[in-house]
Amino acid sequence: MNGFRMTQIGNSTNHISIMNNCHTSFGTINSQERRIDEFIEIIRRVCKCNELKLHEPFFSGNEVKYLESCISSNFVSSVGKFVNKFEKMLADLTGSKNVIATVNGTSALHLSLLCIGIKPEDEVLLPSLTFVGSANAIRYCNAIPHFCDISENDLNIDTSKVRDYLKLIVEKHHSYSINKFTKHRISAIMPVHLYGQPVNMDEMLSIASEYNLTIVEDAAESLGSYFKNKHTGTFGKIGCISFNGNKIITTGGGGAILTNDSKLARMARHLSTTAKISHPWELSHDEIGYNYRMPNINAALGCAQLEMLSELRKNKRLLHSKYKKEFDDVPWVKLIAEDKNANCNYWLNTIVLQVNKTSFTKKLIQGCHEKQIFIRPSWKPLHLLPMFKSCPSSDMSTLTKLQDRIINLPSSAYL
Ligand SMILES: Cc1ncc(COP(=O)(O)O)c(C=O)c1O
Repeated sequence: MNGFRMTQIGNSTNHISIMNNCHTSFGTINSQERRIDEFIEIIRRVCKCNELKLHEPFFSGNEVKYLESCISSNFVSSVGKFVNKFEKMLADLTGSKNVIATVNGTSALHLSLLCIGIKPEDEVLLPSLTFVGSANAIRYCNAIPHFCDISENDLNIDTSKVRDYLKLIVEKHHSYSINKFTKHRISAIMPVHLYGQPVNMDEMLSIASEYNLTIVEDAAESLGSYFKNKHTGTFGKIGCISFNGNKIITTGGGGAILTNDSKLARMARHLSTTAKISHPWELSHDEIGYNYRMPNINAALGCAQLEMLSELRKNKRLLHSKYKKEFDDVPWVKLIAEDKNANCNYWLNTIVLQVNKTSFTKKLIQGCHEKQIFIRPSWKPLHLLPMFKSCPSSDMSTLTKLQDRIINLPSSAYL
């Protein structure tokens, strides 16, 4: 075990012999099994639960009360007091001037991209390590996802690599940037606060301003995460949250758009309600809109869940500190932790195995699943998926190195 830690500080001669030693010891079936057992014991000590799902919702407040009130009022669909209340609560929490609740996070991203004026064939930069919905939303606009590498520290988009990359590929014009190689406009960047870890938004804002890129923040996973005390999703022109069943709080299915730009907010609200012209009885629409408005019944659940957010967040941070205490002594596991400027919701605790053996990752996951511990590997990088293979992408050396070593741990707020 110590061998691996020493490889990082040893001189070159020691380095080789220790590496060999480490590989040999990691390669033996017995040592791998010992490590899997050790890992399972740690998870059990931290979580104190037999069957461990990755992330389950937790309902312990006014959920049933609000749902009953919603049902008894007959306002279960896209109009009702809970939608407005939910939006107001989100605005208060995040500090965003405007909030538009939607049917899910992907529709929030889609609408946001449309509202900032993304055109067909525009390129939008985003990390290759994210949920497929981030890139799908770009394709729904007939725009082109342009994939970037991740940082080893927080697994978010690597801002310093993006800066170097843009220097190479961008032809700067007065108010816009063109990709020299594809001749398409690079019009936006979508930082994703992955697993709840805030992206360094100082860096992101500076890159966006240098290249005239609009920032659409994918804060789907980061409700309750802050960068320098400002809520994620509120740094760019527009930001999006998801309230899917697996998120820190849930509305069943749901999402929200955050923006301080009131004109954009009006446009998003209008498009999310099928572009219907507001009138007491006439039914008319003035453009192609979308049926993306969050139903009242989902918002009722959301209001009750939001009331619980600070408690859920506290529990999740406590769970992270327990994982940290255990994994600090395990050199073959690196637990991703917040940066000094970040305050993270720890939606999903995430580790990077410090061993380059795909077969071990598979064995570890299988060993855990056999014991009812449902850990999960990270998504397959999007630039490798068949529908995105031909999209432009930067050098992917870090993601290529890490892709088979990233694992999400059980992280439910009740643990
Ligand atoms: C990073 C990221 N982006 C976008 C989405 C899309 O959200 P939804 O599932 O609510 O459509 C999700 C989650 O599900 C996500 O994790």
